[in-house]
Amino acid sequence: ENTNENLVELLRTQRDLSDEQLRTLLETDAYDEALFAEADQVRRAHYGTEVYIRGLIEFTNYCKNNCYYCGIRRDNRHATRYRLTKDEILECCAEGYALGFRTFVLQGGEDPYFTDKRVCEIVSAIRKNHPDCAITLSIGEKPRESYQAYFDAGANRYLLRHETADDAHYAKLHPVELSAQKRKECLFNLKEIGYQVGSGFMVGSPYQTTDNLIADLRFLQKLQPDMIGIGPYITHAETPFADQKSGTLELTLRLVAVLRLMFPYALLPATTALGTIHPEGRELGLKAGANVVMPNLSPVRVRKLYELYENKICTGEEAAQCRGCLEQRVRSAGYEIVTARGDVRREDA
Ligand code: 5AD
Ligand code: FES
Repeated sequence: ENTNENLVELLRTQRDLSDEQLRTLLETDAYDEALFAEADQVRRAHYGTEVYIRGLIEFTNYCKNNCYYCGIRRDNRHATRYRLTKDEILECCAEGYALGFRTFVLQGGEDPYFTDKRVCEIVSAIRKNHPDCAITLSIGEKPRESYQAYFDAGANRYLLRHETADDAHYAKLHPVELSAQKRKECLFNLKEIGYQVGSGFMVGSPYQTTDNLIADLRFLQKLQPDMIGIGPYITHAETPFADQKSGTLELTLRLVAVLRLMFPYALLPATTALGTIHPEGRELGLKAGANVVMPNLSPVRVRKLYELYENKICTGEEAAQCRGCLEQRVRSAGYEIVTARGDVRREDA
């Protein structure tokens, strides 16, 4: 029989638990205190109190996909669509560099306007202007050759959440033309090419079960990603899931801590979605084991338009002060923002 402490202790030492043990941990709040304390210790052992910042540039909200949960899905006629020009993107990077950012994340919908040629031109230009920076792409599913071309142009990292590892659950969240299998293939291709890869999932997405979450953890064990991004699912009114409930802060934090103990080396962001469902969500995420924050570097005029979910934070005029405000918030949680690329620290590297 396990006491609270030794189930958590077991997870730390083995970096793994049985499905039944994981279920026990995920389905009650009884272990939370021990879990967060242990996760914070492991995070400190591997990364100290450092928090890495990534400048997020949301450069297009056009999307050819129709995911049922997402506010910028193709069929949302109420979304005001925008694209940044190459010069605007470069301007965001220059501003970000001056603010101390050494990683730029180019995120967008799957927008056919941004052909491989255009993506490569943008990536090469950033690489030329900022040779000391990491360039992260987050632009969805592409053929392997496209991923290779972006890599050759100078991209280093790629974020592609698997969303849910379970085929049947995936099919409840996406139209038929998208599949969990295709998604996973893309992730393994990215890894083989040599990207630092980030995956992840939404917590509390419609129809999600504890079994689904356990399958997500098992998939991540196979993939061994460098980054793992998770955040609560947040309902958006202009989607087919308008009547579904959002995910909770509690379960998201519990999973952040479990991820830290299973993947001690991983870069784990305290996500914008976490900051959106609770005023101190990101600070609480850091205390549960997260070590990355991704402030928005997009021009203020487009921030509200990149609306994956409702009430997204940092969309107002105050957003320009994000860096200073965030610094304060991170310090109040007991950590410090550092200006560094913040590459993964794998023990085997
Ligand atoms: N709530 C929370 N997260 C969402 N995402 C998309 N729509 C939502 C939503 N309604 C997440 C997905 C995607 C990432 C960019 O944003 O996990 O991979
Ligand atoms: Fe965005 Fe403070 S973190 S305004």
